[in-house]
Amino acid sequence: MNSPIGMLYDHIRPEERLLIDAARRRSVKIQLHNSQRLYLNAAQFNHREPFEDVVLQRCVSYFRSVNLSAVLESRGVKVINSSRISSVCGNKLLATIALAEAGVPTPKTAVAFSIESALQALDEIKYPAVLKPIIGSWGRLVAILKDAESAKAILEDRENMFPLYQVYYIQEMVRRPPRDIRCFVVGDTVVAAIYRYAPKNEWRTNTARGGRVEKCEVTPQTEELALKAARVFGEGVYGVDMMEGEEGLTVHEVNHTTEFRNTVPATGVDIPGLIIDYAVDMVRR
Ligand SMILES: Nc1ncnc2c1ncn2[C@@H]1O[C@H](COP(=O)(O)OP(=O)(O)O)[C@@H](O)[C@H]1O
Ligand SMILES: [Mg+2]
Repeated sequence: MNSPIGMLYDHIRPEERLLIDAARRRSVKIQLHNSQRLYLNAAQFNHREPFEDVVLQRCVSYFRSVNLSAVLESRGVKVINSSRISSVCGNKLLATIALAEAGVPTPKTAVAFSIESALQALDEIKYPAVLKPIIGSWGRLVAILKDAESAKAILEDRENMFPLYQVYYIQEMVRRPPRDIRCFVVGDTVVAAIYRYAPKNEWRTNTARGGRVEKCEVTPQTEELALKAARVFGEGVYGVDMMEGEEGLTVHEVNHTTEFRNTVPATGVDIPGLIIDYAVDMVRR
């Protein structure tokens, strides 16, 4: 019998159920920790919630994930993915900087902190462009800026929101087919890839917005790029998203708590099983 592994969560999505099933099939004991039902020793405080040596971090919330993982790591727990990986991957600006520094092709991006300077950046990036919250997922608040008038209106709206939404992350709109490619990386292997097709009347390909999934053959090119992008952040479990631009493939996002409910039936690859195997292997290391 293997040592137990842990899993932190805030919502049990189909992914978390699939991970629990995969662990059961392998007779691996998986201890579940509801992040909303625990408190932890951060400094000079005696409460010691017991944790396993290796814990899968599956919180949907970026803030919960990063902060909770940091506390566990301070106690010697190995967290997949680590708080450092999650903090960088989950912040689109930090991730873009890291990818660009490592020479991974990524869309042209500017950051601005006022409407006026955002409009100046847009003059250089050219319309249409894309505005994104630096922290967020499922395509939420990812908007096309078609021209200066609509950009101004959208930016003005953001001025009434939480300060996070006033960090204006502005990206060139990549000319691509109505799909993108997601490569699943577990450790040092690309285990599967899918195309995500945008649904009708939608340009974003997120499956949370109804995007359709199709198997994508992993080519030497996508494999190399996915591994290069993953290595920028360190060994872990990732969903590397890339677009087929006119000048080649470009990586726009590296997901650190990736969803795979649609990928398993589309590809026939047991991604949850591979993640459990990876975690068990981590216990032995
Ligand atoms: N620069 C871009 N050019 C064209 N389409 C984009 C661009 N950036 C994002 N998209 C589309 O919008 C979707 C959501 O953007 P993404 O950066 O992945 O944010 P999220 O974290 O919300 O998924 C992507 O899956 C892609 O379909
Ligand atoms: Mg995305």
